[in-house]
Amino acid sequence: MTDFSGYLTGCQLRINQYLSEQLPDGEPRLSRLYQAMRYSLTNGGKRIRPVLAYAGCAALGGQPQQADVAAAAVELIHAYSLVHDDLPAMDDDDLRRGQPTCHRAFDEASAILAGDALQALAFEWLSLRGDYQPTTRLQMIQLLARAAGPEGMVGGQAIDLGAVGEKLDLSTLESMHRLKTGALIRASVQLGALASEQAEPSQLAALDNYANAIGLAFQVQDDILDIESDTSVLGKQQGADLARDKPTYPALLGLNGARELASQLRDQAIDSLTDFDQQADRLRQLADYIVARRF
Ligand code: IPE
Ligand code: IPE
Ligand code: MG
Ligand code: MG
Ligand code: MG
Repeated sequence: MTDFSGYLTGCQLRINQYLSEQLPDGEPRLSRLYQAMRYSLTNGGKRIRPVLAYAGCAALGGQPQQADVAAAAVELIHAYSLVHDDLPAMDDDDLRRGQPTCHRAFDEASAILAGDALQALAFEWLSLRGDYQPTTRLQMIQLLARAAGPEGMVGGQAIDLGAVGEKLDLSTLESMHRLKTGALIRASVQLGALASEQAEPSQLAALDNYANAIGLAFQVQDDILDIESDTSVLGKQQGADLARDKPTYPALLGLNGARELASQLRDQAIDSLTDFDQQADRLRQLADYIVARRF
């Protein structure tokens, strides 16, 4: 087995190539729209959600090519969510992945439309591409739609924006994080697992316990990094949450409390995989990576 950083790089190269080749340029009248989409989709990023889809597929014995469409669909949704998250009406951020945010590089209307288009494309690709059984495909579409919508990411974003300047209690903060970030992370693992066409319900349930824990851990670490990382490493403005008085885990538990929670969640995630053999090792390594990452 290659080391984890080699695995991560391999998956990143794979999804970057897929996204870049599959995204069309569009007809000349739409070139600005497509440029804004391409800008937001191919500007780096850790590609954690695609990597989770590949690793979820591998945990059940599937091959990477089976997970390409699933991985791409979830990254399209994620890229759209970031473009909108950065808009002036939301977090009003100028820097993303080390470059000007989409509305800064283009304009606000283009960023809104690029996000809309990336979202629609995710479902178009998931409904058309890849070699999935019709029932698997339908399950995947439903799962991603639910994770992206009001019962998932968008719902979490709504709670987040409604809570600026308020001190949320721990359970509201947890449900907000589980929705705004956890839902798409769960969907990534489930989509990858479904893409293998070999997933038993009990395996899907165990993988979902894993993803539920790392999904929350991912946002806890994001909140921690807003405080303790720096802008050049992070690729986005350090201290942005504090400056806007955003509801975060460190704000409620302190930095050490948040760190402790992240490592408990990592352990919980790994414990969920006891029934899996070494094919799930990449998921285990990803749990470590998610709480140890510096950006
Ligand atoms: C940032 O996500 C937004 C959150 C949901 C916390 P990532 O940290 O995965 O961002 P990229 O894709 O690597 O830029
Ligand atoms: C974003 O959370 C979650 C999304 C659904 C995009 P944040 O607002 O904390 O993400 P960053 O820190 O801007 O990447
Ligand atoms: Mg936000
Ligand atoms: Mg933000
Ligand atoms: Mg953040």
